[in-house]
Amino acid sequence: MVSSRMASIHESTTMKISATAKKLAAGGQDIIDMGVGEPDFDTPKHIVEAGCSSIRMGETHYAPTAGIPELRRAIADKLVRENLLHTTADDVVVTPGAKMAVFAAMQALLQEGDECVLIGPSWVSYEPCAAFAGASVAWGKVDDNFMPQDLAENISPKTRLIIVNSPSNPTGSVFDRKVLEEIRDLAVDHNLFVISDEIYEKIIYDREHISIGSMPGMEDKTVTINGFSKAYAMTGWRLGYLTGPKEVMKWVTRLLSHSVSQATTFVQRAGVVALQGPQGEVASMVTEFRARRDMLVAGLKDLGIPCSVPGGAFYVFPDVSCLGGGDAFTDKLLKDALIAATPGSAFGPGGANYVRLSYATSQSRIKQALQRIEKIVK
Ligand SMILES: Cc1ncc(COP(=O)(O)O)c(C=O)c1O
Repeated sequence: MVSSRMASIHESTTMKISATAKKLAAGGQDIIDMGVGEPDFDTPKHIVEAGCSSIRMGETHYAPTAGIPELRRAIADKLVRENLLHTTADDVVVTPGAKMAVFAAMQALLQEGDECVLIGPSWVSYEPCAAFAGASVAWGKVDDNFMPQDLAENISPKTRLIIVNSPSNPTGSVFDRKVLEEIRDLAVDHNLFVISDEIYEKIIYDREHISIGSMPGMEDKTVTINGFSKAYAMTGWRLGYLTGPKEVMKWVTRLLSHSVSQATTFVQRAGVVALQGPQGEVASMVTEFRARRDMLVAGLKDLGIPCSVPGGAFYVFPDVSCLGGGDAFTDKLLKDALIAATPGSAFGPGGANYVRLSYATSQSRIKQALQRIEKIVK
Protein backbone atom coordinates (compact mmCIF):
# COMPACT_ATOMS: atom_id res chain seq x y z
CA MET A 1 0.00 0.00 0.00
CA VAL A 2 2.83 2.41 0.68
CA SER A 3 5.69 3.51 -1.55
CA SER A 4 8.84 1.39 -1.50
CA ARG A 5 10.73 4.45 -0.27
CA MET A 6 8.54 4.61 2.84
CA ALA A 7 8.52 0.86 3.34
CA SER A 8 12.30 0.89 3.91
CA ILE A 9 11.99 3.16 6.96
CA HIS A 10 12.05 1.46 10.37
CA GLU A 11 10.13 2.60 13.41
CA SER A 12 12.32 4.61 15.81
CA THR A 13 13.62 2.08 18.38
CA THR A 14 13.99 4.73 21.06
CA MET A 15 10.39 5.90 20.64
CA LYS A 16 9.20 2.28 20.65
CA ILE A 17 11.07 1.46 23.86
CA SER A 18 9.85 4.60 25.54
CA ALA A 19 6.24 3.67 24.63
CA THR A 20 6.74 0.10 25.98
CA ALA A 21 8.25 1.40 29.23
CA LYS A 22 5.35 3.83 29.71
CA LYS A 23 2.81 1.07 29.05
CA LEU A 24 4.43 -1.31 31.55
CA ALA A 25 4.64 1.45 34.15
CA ALA A 26 0.97 2.33 33.56
CA GLY A 27 0.19 -1.36 34.21
CA GLY A 28 1.71 -1.05 37.69
CA GLN A 29 5.24 -2.40 37.01
CA ASP A 30 8.07 -0.55 38.77
CA ILE A 31 10.01 0.21 35.59
CA ILE A 32 13.23 2.25 35.79
CA ASP A 33 13.20 4.08 32.48
CA MET A 34 16.75 4.45 31.20
CA GLY A 35 15.59 4.46 27.60
CA VAL A 36 14.56 8.09 27.67
CA GLY A 37 16.15 10.71 25.45
CA GLU A 38 14.93 13.73 27.33
CA PRO A 39 15.94 15.61 30.47
CA ASP A 40 13.80 14.72 33.49
CA PHE A 41 13.78 18.40 34.55
CA ASP A 42 10.96 20.86 34.00
CA THR A 43 11.29 23.70 31.52
CA PRO A 44 12.55 26.72 33.55
CA LYS A 45 9.64 28.84 34.77
CA HIS A 46 10.65 32.08 33.07
CA ILE A 47 10.58 30.28 29.72
CA VAL A 48 7.15 28.75 30.44
CA GLU A 49 5.89 32.20 31.43
CA ALA A 50 7.15 33.72 28.17
CA GLY A 51 5.20 31.11 26.18
CA CYS A 52 2.04 31.62 28.24
CA SER A 53 2.19 35.38 28.04
CA SER A 54 2.69 35.17 24.27
CA ILE A 55 -0.51 33.09 23.99
CA ARG A 56 -2.36 35.59 26.20
CA MET A 57 -1.15 38.41 23.97
CA GLY A 58 -2.81 36.67 21.06
CA GLU A 59 0.33 35.44 19.29
CA THR A 60 -1.54 32.42 18.05
CA HIS A 61 -1.37 33.04 14.32
CA TYR A 62 0.96 32.01 11.50
CA ALA A 63 4.47 33.43 11.58
CA PRO A 64 7.08 33.65 8.80
CA THR A 65 8.25 30.20 7.63
CA ALA A 66 11.88 30.78 8.66
CA GLY A 67 10.89 32.01 12.12
CA ILE A 68 10.01 35.23 13.90
CA PRO A 69 12.70 37.90 13.37
CA GLU A 70 13.38 38.28 17.12
CA LEU A 71 14.22 34.59 17.48
CA ARG A 72 16.31 34.44 14.32
CA ARG A 73 18.30 37.42 15.61
CA ALA A 74 18.71 35.88 19.08
CA ILE A 75 19.91 32.61 17.54
CA ALA A 76 22.34 34.37 15.18
CA ASP A 77 23.75 36.39 18.12
CA LYS A 78 24.23 33.17 20.10
CA LEU A 79 25.90 31.37 17.18
CA VAL A 80 28.30 34.26 16.58
CA ARG A 81 29.08 34.78 20.28
CA GLU A 82 29.32 31.20 21.51
CA ASN A 83 30.04 29.13 18.43
CA LEU A 84 32.19 31.64 16.51
CA LEU A 85 30.12 31.09 13.36
CA HIS A 86 29.93 33.79 10.72
CA THR A 87 26.19 33.94 10.37
CA THR A 88 23.37 36.46 10.41
CA ALA A 89 19.67 36.28 11.24
CA ASP A 90 18.93 36.01 7.50
CA ASP A 91 20.81 32.70 7.36
CA VAL A 92 19.06 31.16 10.37
CA VAL A 93 15.96 29.01 9.91
CA VAL A 94 13.79 28.01 12.88
CA THR A 95 12.18 24.56 12.83
CA PRO A 96 9.70 22.59 14.94
CA GLY A 97 12.44 20.64 16.73
CA ALA A 98 16.03 19.92 15.69
CA LYS A 99 14.81 16.65 14.16
CA MET A 100 12.99 18.63 11.48
CA ALA A 101 16.18 20.63 10.91
CA VAL A 102 18.12 17.39 10.37
CA PHE A 103 15.42 16.05 8.06
CA ALA A 104 15.17 19.24 6.00
CA ALA A 105 18.94 19.71 5.71
CA MET A 106 19.40 16.13 4.54
CA GLN A 107 16.61 16.44 1.98
CA ALA A 108 18.23 19.63 0.70
CA LEU A 109 21.75 18.19 0.47
CA LEU A 110 21.34 14.57 -0.59
CA GLN A 111 20.50 13.29 -4.06
CA GLU A 112 19.17 9.87 -4.97
CA GLY A 113 22.16 7.46 -4.86
CA ASP A 114 24.37 9.70 -2.70
CA GLU A 115 26.20 8.44 0.37
CA CYS A 116 26.26 10.00 3.78
CA VAL A 117 28.97 9.09 6.30
CA LEU A 118 27.99 8.42 9.90
CA ILE A 119 30.77 8.11 12.47
CA GLY A 120 30.26 4.98 14.58
CA PRO A 121 27.06 4.34 16.53
CA SER A 122 24.83 7.28 15.63
CA TRP A 123 21.46 8.77 16.53
CA VAL A 124 18.58 6.65 15.24
CA SER A 125 17.08 9.18 12.82
CA TYR A 126 20.06 10.01 10.57
CA GLU A 127 19.85 6.83 8.49
CA PRO A 128 16.07 7.08 7.90
CA CYS A 129 16.47 10.76 6.94
CA ALA A 130 19.08 9.73 4.36
CA ALA A 131 16.74 6.97 3.13
CA PHE A 132 13.89 9.48 2.72
CA ALA A 133 16.21 11.39 0.38
CA GLY A 134 17.04 8.20 -1.58
CA ALA A 135 20.60 8.18 -0.20
CA SER A 136 22.45 5.49 1.75
CA VAL A 137 24.74 5.50 4.74
CA ALA A 138 28.42 4.50 5.07
CA TRP A 139 29.26 3.60 8.67
CA GLY A 140 32.64 4.99 9.74
CA LYS A 141 34.72 2.98 12.23
CA VAL A 142 35.51 4.28 15.70
CA ASP A 143 38.05 3.31 18.38
CA ASP A 144 37.27 2.21 21.96
CA ASN A 145 36.59 5.82 22.93
CA PHE A 146 34.26 6.28 19.95
CA MET A 147 36.70 8.54 18.09
CA PRO A 148 36.73 8.25 14.27
CA GLN A 149 39.22 5.80 12.82
CA ASP A 150 40.37 5.74 9.19
CA LEU A 151 37.42 7.88 8.14
CA ALA A 152 38.98 8.41 4.70
CA GLU A 153 38.19 4.76 3.91
CA ASN A 154 34.49 5.63 3.95
CA ILE A 155 34.78 8.33 1.30
CA SER A 156 33.74 7.22 -2.20
CA PRO A 157 32.83 9.13 -5.37
CA LYS A 158 29.22 8.98 -4.13
CA THR A 159 29.93 10.61 -0.76
CA ARG A 160 28.26 13.96 -0.34
CA LEU A 161 27.91 14.46 3.39
CA ILE A 162 29.51 13.67 6.76
CA ILE A 163 27.43 13.93 9.91
CA VAL A 164 29.15 15.13 13.06
CA ASN A 165 27.28 14.82 16.35
CA SER A 166 29.40 16.00 19.26
CA PRO A 167 28.57 15.47 22.09
CA SER A 168 27.15 12.28 20.70
CA ASN A 169 23.94 10.41 21.17
CA PRO A 170 24.37 7.49 21.95
CA THR A 171 28.05 7.35 22.99
CA GLY A 172 28.47 10.68 24.82
CA SER A 173 31.80 11.18 23.05
CA VAL A 174 33.05 14.72 22.45
CA PHE A 175 35.29 15.46 19.45
CA ASP A 176 38.30 17.65 20.22
CA ARG A 177 39.85 20.15 17.82
CA LYS A 178 42.28 17.62 16.32
CA VAL A 179 39.50 15.17 15.43
CA LEU A 180 37.38 17.96 13.97
CA GLU A 181 40.35 19.22 11.93
CA GLU A 182 40.75 15.76 10.40
CA ILE A 183 37.08 15.77 9.43
CA ARG A 184 37.45 19.31 8.09
CA ASP A 185 40.43 18.25 5.95
CA LEU A 186 38.43 15.37 4.46
CA ALA A 187 35.47 17.66 3.73
CA VAL A 188 37.71 20.25 2.05
CA ASP A 189 39.80 17.72 0.07
CA HIS A 190 36.73 15.84 -1.22
CA ASN A 191 34.37 18.80 -1.45
CA LEU A 192 31.85 17.37 1.02
CA PHE A 193 29.22 18.97 3.21
CA VAL A 194 29.14 18.48 6.97
CA ILE A 195 25.99 18.54 9.07
CA SER A 196 27.01 19.35 12.63
CA ASP A 197 24.26 18.36 15.04
CA GLU A 198 25.11 20.24 18.24
CA ILE A 199 21.93 19.55 20.21
CA TYR A 200 23.93 18.31 23.27
CA GLU A 201 26.35 21.25 23.14
CA LYS A 202 25.46 22.53 26.62
CA ILE A 203 25.48 19.13 28.30
CA ILE A 204 29.23 18.72 28.42
CA TYR A 205 31.63 17.95 31.28
CA ASP A 206 35.09 19.59 31.53
CA ARG A 207 35.36 19.66 27.77
CA GLU A 208 35.22 22.41 25.20
CA HIS A 209 32.47 22.33 22.61
CA ILE A 210 33.82 23.30 19.19
CA SER A 211 31.60 24.02 16.20
CA ILE A 212 33.22 22.59 13.08
CA GLY A 213 31.49 25.32 11.06
CA SER A 214 33.77 27.89 12.72
CA MET A 215 36.93 26.27 11.31
CA PRO A 216 38.68 27.87 8.34
CA GLY A 217 37.40 26.41 5.07
CA MET A 218 34.12 25.17 6.56
CA GLU A 219 31.86 28.25 6.33
CA ASP A 220 30.32 27.28 3.01
CA LYS A 221 30.36 23.55 3.73
CA THR A 222 28.66 23.25 7.10
CA VAL A 223 25.06 23.18 8.19
CA THR A 224 24.97 23.68 11.97
CA ILE A 225 21.93 22.35 13.81
CA ASN A 226 20.84 22.96 17.36
CA GLY A 227 17.68 23.22 19.42
CA PHE A 228 16.07 23.84 22.78
CA SER A 229 15.00 20.30 23.75
CA LYS A 230 18.04 19.21 25.72
CA ALA A 231 19.65 22.42 27.03
CA TYR A 232 16.39 23.94 28.27
CA ALA A 233 14.40 20.77 28.92
CA MET A 234 11.94 21.76 26.19
CA THR A 235 11.43 18.48 24.31
CA GLY A 236 7.66 18.82 24.02
CA TRP A 237 7.76 22.42 22.83
CA ARG A 238 9.36 21.35 19.53
CA LEU A 239 11.86 24.06 18.76
CA GLY A 240 15.11 23.80 16.84
CA TYR A 241 17.11 25.68 14.22
CA LEU A 242 19.82 25.49 11.61
CA THR A 243 22.19 27.77 9.79
CA GLY A 244 24.35 27.22 6.75
CA PRO A 245 25.05 28.36 3.21
CA LYS A 246 22.33 30.68 1.83
CA GLU A 247 21.40 28.39 -1.03
CA VAL A 248 20.84 25.44 1.33
CA MET A 249 18.79 27.59 3.71
CA LYS A 250 16.63 28.70 0.77
CA TRP A 251 15.63 25.11 -0.04
CA VAL A 252 15.22 24.17 3.60
CA THR A 253 12.77 27.08 3.94
CA ARG A 254 10.91 25.96 0.86
CA LEU A 255 10.56 22.44 2.26
CA LEU A 256 9.20 23.84 5.53
CA SER A 257 6.78 26.13 3.70
CA HIS A 258 5.19 23.13 1.98
CA SER A 259 5.18 20.81 4.99
CA VAL A 260 5.10 22.11 8.57
CA SER A 261 4.82 25.83 7.64
CA GLN A 262 6.75 27.02 10.71
CA ALA A 263 7.52 26.37 14.36
CA THR A 264 4.64 27.36 16.68
CA THR A 265 4.53 31.14 17.08
CA PHE A 266 4.32 31.39 20.88
CA VAL A 267 6.91 28.64 21.31
CA GLN A 268 9.32 30.81 19.34
CA ARG A 269 8.68 33.66 21.77
CA ALA A 270 9.65 31.31 24.63
CA GLY A 271 12.79 30.44 22.65
CA VAL A 272 13.90 34.09 22.64
CA VAL A 273 13.63 34.17 26.44
CA ALA A 274 15.45 30.83 26.75
CA LEU A 275 18.44 32.22 24.86
CA GLN A 276 18.45 35.70 26.36
CA GLY A 277 17.30 34.96 29.92
CA PRO A 278 19.24 33.58 32.91
CA GLN A 279 21.24 30.41 32.20
CA GLY A 280 21.60 29.25 35.82
CA GLU A 281 19.20 26.31 35.48
CA VAL A 282 21.17 24.94 32.53
CA ALA A 283 24.29 24.94 34.71
CA SER A 284 22.49 23.25 37.63
CA MET A 285 21.11 20.59 35.33
CA VAL A 286 24.61 19.85 33.99
CA THR A 287 26.00 19.60 37.55
CA GLU A 288 23.33 17.05 38.41
CA PHE A 289 23.90 15.11 35.16
CA ARG A 290 27.63 14.94 35.92
CA ALA A 291 27.00 13.46 39.39
CA ARG A 292 24.71 10.84 37.85
CA ARG A 293 27.20 10.03 35.11
CA ASP A 294 29.94 9.49 37.67
CA MET A 295 27.71 7.27 39.79
CA LEU A 296 26.58 5.16 36.85
CA VAL A 297 30.00 4.74 35.23
CA ALA A 298 31.60 3.82 38.58
CA GLY A 299 28.76 1.41 39.40
CA LEU A 300 29.02 -0.37 36.04
CA LYS A 301 32.79 -0.65 36.35
CA ASP A 302 32.38 -2.15 39.84
CA LEU A 303 30.18 -4.79 38.25
CA GLY A 304 32.91 -5.52 35.71
CA ILE A 305 31.02 -3.95 32.80
CA PRO A 306 33.45 -1.93 30.63
CA CYS A 307 32.22 1.61 30.05
CA SER A 308 34.11 4.59 28.67
CA VAL A 309 33.50 7.89 30.49
CA PRO A 310 31.27 10.05 28.30
CA GLY A 311 32.32 13.70 27.94
CA GLY A 312 28.82 14.94 27.23
CA ALA A 313 25.10 14.26 26.68
CA PHE A 314 23.22 12.13 29.24
CA TYR A 315 23.93 8.58 28.12
CA VAL A 316 26.45 5.89 28.95
CA PHE A 317 27.23 3.26 26.35
CA PRO A 318 28.74 0.25 28.12
CA ASP A 319 30.14 -2.75 26.29
CA VAL A 320 27.97 -5.75 27.17
CA SER A 321 29.50 -8.23 24.73
CA CYS A 322 30.43 -10.47 27.68
CA LEU A 323 26.78 -10.42 28.79
CA GLY A 324 25.28 -11.75 25.58
CA GLY A 325 25.50 -8.55 23.47
CA GLY A 326 23.30 -5.48 23.29
CA ASP A 327 20.01 -6.98 22.08
CA ALA A 328 19.98 -9.95 24.50
CA PHE A 329 21.11 -7.85 27.46
CA THR A 330 18.49 -5.16 26.78
CA ASP A 331 15.78 -7.87 26.79
CA LYS A 332 17.18 -9.26 30.02
CA LEU A 333 17.26 -5.81 31.61
CA LEU A 334 13.59 -5.32 30.87
CA LYS A 335 12.41 -8.83 31.73
CA ASP A 336 14.53 -9.59 34.79
CA ALA A 337 15.41 -6.15 36.17
CA LEU A 338 12.49 -4.02 34.96
CA ILE A 339 14.93 -1.53 33.44
CA ALA A 340 14.08 -0.03 30.05
CA ALA A 341 17.21 0.60 27.95
CA THR A 342 18.07 0.86 24.27
CA PRO A 343 20.10 -1.82 22.49
CA GLY A 344 23.21 -0.45 20.79
CA SER A 345 22.13 -2.07 17.52
CA ALA A 346 19.47 0.67 17.21
CA PHE A 347 22.35 3.06 16.50
CA GLY A 348 23.89 1.10 13.64
CA PRO A 349 25.97 -2.02 13.09
CA GLY A 350 28.85 -0.76 15.29
CA GLY A 351 26.54 -0.66 18.30
CA ALA A 352 25.69 -4.35 18.53
CA ASN A 353 27.95 -5.02 21.55
CA TYR A 354 26.56 -2.12 23.55
CA VAL A 355 23.52 -0.90 25.38
CA ARG A 356 22.55 2.74 25.84
CA LEU A 357 21.52 3.75 29.35
CA SER A 358 20.15 7.23 29.80
CA TYR A 359 20.82 8.89 33.14
CA ALA A 360 17.99 11.37 32.75
CA THR A 361 16.61 9.84 35.92
CA SER A 362 17.28 10.55 39.61
CA GLN A 363 20.36 9.39 41.52
CA SER A 364 18.18 7.21 43.75
CA ARG A 365 16.74 5.45 40.69
CA ILE A 366 20.24 5.01 39.25
CA LYS A 367 21.35 3.44 42.54
CA GLN A 368 18.38 1.09 42.41
CA ALA A 369 19.10 0.28 38.77
CA LEU A 370 22.69 -0.66 39.64
CA GLN A 371 21.43 -2.96 42.42
CA ARG A 372 19.05 -4.65 39.99
CA ILE A 373 21.79 -5.00 37.36
CA GLU A 374 24.07 -6.55 39.98
CA LYS A 375 21.46 -9.22 40.64
CA ILE A 376 21.20 -10.23 36.98
CA VAL A 377 24.92 -10.21 36.19
CA LYS A 378 26.31 -11.88 39.33
C1 LIG B 1 21.48 13.69 18.28
C2 LIG B 1 20.11 14.26 18.26
N1 LIG B 1 19.80 15.15 17.31
C3 LIG B 1 18.59 15.70 17.23
C4 LIG B 1 17.60 15.36 18.13
C5 LIG B 1 16.24 15.98 17.97
O1 LIG B 1 15.90 16.87 18.96
P1 LIG B 1 14.55 17.68 18.93
O2 LIG B 1 13.79 17.30 20.14
O3 LIG B 1 14.96 19.13 18.96
O4 LIG B 1 13.83 17.36 17.67
C6 LIG B 1 17.86 14.43 19.13
C7 LIG B 1 16.80 14.00 20.06
O5 LIG B 1 16.86 13.01 20.72
C8 LIG B 1 19.16 13.87 19.20
O6 LIG B 1 19.48 12.98 20.16
